Amino acid sequence: MDKIIIAIDGPAGAGKSEIAKRVARGLKYEYIDTGAMYRAIAWKLLKSKINIEDDEELQQLIDNTEISWQSQENVFRVFVDGGEVTDEIRTQSITKKTNEISMIQKVREYLLILQRKAGVEKGIIMEGRDIGTAVFPQAEKKFYLDATLEERAKRRYRDLKKQDQTVKMEKIKEAIRFRDEKDKNRSLNPLKAARDAILIDTTNLSLEEVVQCILDKLKK
Ligand code: DC
Repeated sequence: MDKIIIAIDGPAGAGKSEIAKRVARGLKYEYIDTGAMYRAIAWKLLKSKINIEDDEELQQLIDNTEISWQSQENVFRVFVDGGEVTDEIRTQSITKKTNEISMIQKVREYLLILQRKAGVEKGIIMEGRDIGTAVFPQAEKKFYLDATLEERAKRRYRDLKKQDQTVKMEKIKEAIRFRDEKDKNRSLNPLKAARDAILIDTTNLSLEEVVQCILDKLKK
């Protein structure tokens, strides 16, 4: 099969990362997590303490920031100016900041260039919120993964418990609902399924079932 670009979009907790990683492994494709890139910028912004409302300060920061990554078997490692931030970008404060900065045009434009460059050679599976609609509207295959809010909150709860974090189900549900609302209603490249995306409701499916479903659709 010729190498193609596979776009995977969907809301937080729909299972995009784990599923995209497994599909990438099966196809020997490069897996790219664009949420991690937004998180990396949020990390730098939090460290630098600049005023993000000041256009010039923000532009300067972007001009002086280098985001890079290494995609390996099971991890997507992210670096800011050469230093690894893979684990640090997963905190709740970064998640909150990321949501905020993902609405800024300069940030989106900067990352869009990096993301498109990554697709030049094809053979990638890229996940995010706007991959099928804005980053690669010409992607050969697009999937939009979704699940009920209840189910997505349950999955997040289990993940955080595994990492020994003290969490409350109601709080997780509220945080996801808040993020959904922001991601879907922002004016710049909001989260939505591309017209030609294949929709998969993962609520009652296991990871393996979703991966198999995607691999089957790719064969067609
Ligand atoms: O996938 P994630 O939870 O790591 O993404 C973090 C945030 O980044 C999410 O709230 C929205 C934003 N994001 C985006 O706006 N566009 C993307 N392509 C990927 C993520």
